Amino acid sequence: MDETTRESPPSRRAFLSRSLTAGAGLAALGGTGTATAAAPAVAAAAAVDPPETLPVSLTVNGRRRTLRTDPRTSLLDALREDLGLTGPKKGCNQGACGACTVLLDGTRILSCITFAVMFEGAEITTVEGLADGDRLHPVQRAFVEHDGFQCGFCTSGQITSAVGLLAENPRPSTAEIKELMSGNLCRCAAYPNIVAAVESAAEGRS
Ligand code: FES
Ligand code: FES
Repeated sequence: MDETTRESPPSRRAFLSRSLTAGAGLAALGGTGTATAAAPAVAAAAAVDPPETLPVSLTVNGRRRTLRTDPRTSLLDALREDLGLTGPKKGCNQGACGACTVLLDGTRILSCITFAVMFEGAEITTVEGLADGDRLHPVQRAFVEHDGFQCGFCTSGQITSAVGLLAENPRPSTAEIKELMSGNLCRCAAYPNIVAAVESAAEGRS
């Protein structure tokens, strides 16, 4: 079809209005007696569009940040696209790989499967917030010392997850490290060195 003759799609408001009007018409034809009462409600509903964006205020890496975002925006996208924090990575974007791990009030979460607007007032820590100025976090140092990465794509999630793990369990066994880090996948298979790094950090050797 010629682009110039194609009918433009109806706006969401127009579509909603038409649907509700059709529904009201059907109710009237059915003779249920509800059409008269339904009409004002239908008109009111048709006049209200859902909000395109919502405000949300978060403390990210110790800094208060306020943004307006589509309610469907994941926390990962809000961090990466709106706040420019690209440490959390988008691997699978469906909760399976751990590359997007961040800390929510100190607890590990997968930021790709949560909505940013869920976290009003929460404290979020990304890998960018772990170091103290030029001084790396002990877990970061341990990953460097033990070569706990190859391509590095999973690494920020691994490190953030390890920080959360050690907050939950400061003295994990090797088996516990493997189990509790199992949600963080590494396609380079740097697992032995990752485990060694977490053990080292837990023992305060880094
Ligand atoms: S990107 Fe979130 S779990 Fe894979
Ligand atoms: S270091 Fe490459 S995916 Fe983990």
